[in-house]
Amino acid sequence: MPGLTIGDTIPDLELDTTHGRIRIHDYVGNGYAIVFSHPADFTPVCTTEMAAMAGYAAKFENRGVKLLGISCDDVNSHKEWIKDIEAYKPGCRVTFPIAADPKKEVIKQLNMVDPDEKDQNGQNLPSRTLHLVGPDKKVKVSFLYPAPVGRNTDEVLRVVDSIQKASQHRVATPANWKAGDAVVILPSVSNEEVQKLFPGGFEVKDLPSGKDYLRFTKV
Ligand code: BEZ
Repeated sequence: MPGLTIGDTIPDLELDTTHGRIRIHDYVGNGYAIVFSHPADFTPVCTTEMAAMAGYAAKFENRGVKLLGISCDDVNSHKEWIKDIEAYKPGCRVTFPIAADPKKEVIKQLNMVDPDEKDQNGQNLPSRTLHLVGPDKKVKVSFLYPAPVGRNTDEVLRVVDSIQKASQHRVATPANWKAGDAVVILPSVSNEEVQKLFPGGFEVKDLPSGKDYLRFTKV
């Protein structure tokens, strides 16, 4: 069973959070949301990751992306933990909700279980999972990282930029792309359409095959 993956509709769960009860679909609304899990409150990597996301909150907001953290501890624990997170990175504010999941049911439904990490009762803890959810409530991207590997917030932002670019134009982003770089035109765009869709011009890479499929443009 692969569990929740790209293309799936995220379950419309009602969650207990530091901002009260939240239904996931209402929270996503007509924009994007990043739903991301952490193994536990008051743990070192999680504290640095949470502070990093808090420090980037304005960048996500500018892109129409809401943040929703999940850790299995309860809401009171999260509220205490937020004090540590904000102290660790002075100036950062955790303005987004953090959901609780003491029964560890939400993490199962959101495919956020780490098979190698267990709590003192032998129950599985969450992995460092991150789902980027689109306005259609479908998962656009998922990261599945184990507990020892903290996520790279710049990469999360880069992926948001890539997904949003691809949703606005018939393009994809090549290896190591970053915002402002050239993008590639989708193979489904014919050479007749390309002139109309990309009036600013495009460049075809000359390849040994003689096939003209690697077309770069700026959008
Ligand atoms: C951490 O956040 O540092 C962590 C949590 C669980 C397992 C390993 C590391």
